[in-house]
Amino acid sequence: MATTDADVPEAERPTIIEVTPGVLERGASLQASEKTERASDVLLEVRGLSTHFFTPSGVVQAVDDVSFDMKYGETLGLVGESGCGKSVTALSIARLVPNPPGRIVAGSITFDGIDVLKLNNDGIRKLRGKEIGFIFQDPLTSLNPTLTIGYQIAEAIRQHMGLSDAAARDRVIELLSKVGIPRAKERLGDYPFQFSGGMRQRVMIAIALSCDPKLILADEPTTALDVTIQAQILELIQKLSDEFGTAVLMITHDLGIAAGMCDRVNVMYAGRIVETATVDELFEQPRMPYSWGLLDSLPQIDDVRGEKLRTIEGMPPVLISPPDTCRFSPRCPYVRDICNEHEPMLTERASKGHLARCWATQPDGWIA
Ligand SMILES: Nc1ncnc2c1ncn2[C@@H]1O[C@H](COP(=O)(O)OP(=O)(O)O)[C@@H](O)[C@H]1O
Ligand SMILES: [Mg+2]
Repeated sequence: MATTDADVPEAERPTIIEVTPGVLERGASLQASEKTERASDVLLEVRGLSTHFFTPSGVVQAVDDVSFDMKYGETLGLVGESGCGKSVTALSIARLVPNPPGRIVAGSITFDGIDVLKLNNDGIRKLRGKEIGFIFQDPLTSLNPTLTIGYQIAEAIRQHMGLSDAAARDRVIELLSKVGIPRAKERLGDYPFQFSGGMRQRVMIAIALSCDPKLILADEPTTALDVTIQAQILELIQKLSDEFGTAVLMITHDLGIAAGMCDRVNVMYAGRIVETATVDELFEQPRMPYSWGLLDSLPQIDDVRGEKLRTIEGMPPVLISPPDTCRFSPRCPYVRDICNEHEPMLTERASKGHLARCWATQPDGWIA
């Protein structure tokens, strides 16, 4: 049976071990020198992305006309309730949408200057194995239960970095130490089930970072973990992405997590981005009632007094044939006729780069 984090003796609990400079630092400095030669600071440019699933019950418009940018080294949040298209956005970026039934039907994705939607199979393999790392919610399903941890981390390194077996092994040990796995050398031969949930997530982080990726897609990376372990894992992702200069797309249903880690956040609802802003702006001046709802659902000091958390009433719409109106209007307390007649565009609000998709908060809207 899998151990839990609570079972791990104090001495074996994770600590971030500083290791002597080695392969990792060489990789990191290589990225720093690349940075100075770059023509643009935009790592990822997503434009008009639509990804649909063609199912017997109809076409699920999981991601619909989504556009956003990410800078090199930036941690960007992608936040919204379950089912609003966050994971499918990430899968699209890495060309991992299961086909059938899924297909990217429109838009473009430019990653580090590469047109991702035009890549051939070799290009896609390099993109996934080397340039983009993943951290998923449940490491047990993404790790292979029949292969040792050491083998699984080394596999990508051997394939994509052209290192010898010995050099790859050194790098694995260094990576495991970096992610806070105690006695890394002795644990290379262990299988995933011999690790606790938190430790498995650390292994996933090691795999994600193994080839010095430019981007990590972290899809609900701590949702399956208990709260204290959650905080440790988030801190680790933050620390290592800073150290490696890796951009992180932090996907979460928890606005609190995004607020703690990101400078900027995209709020997603029913397959669309409905607000994009810096975290500070989003907290001080949210311009979309859905975002107010998400903010209101955050636990606050008041809860200590036993006040009930406010949640957004209702459910996100089914994404088969969504109407050409505001998709949030059935749940919106500020709804007026126009919201049920035309869909608002994503347009700029008071400050540059703060966009919202809402009739009510437009300059001539009914909420100032
Ligand atoms: N393989 C699939 N087949 C059909 N529909 C899918 C598939 N994967 C995702 N979807 C649908 O796409 C929508 C967005 O899903 P997803 O991106 O996983 O949401 P989130 O990550 O925000 O919770 C949902 O309506 C979901 O049911
Ligand atoms: Mg998801």
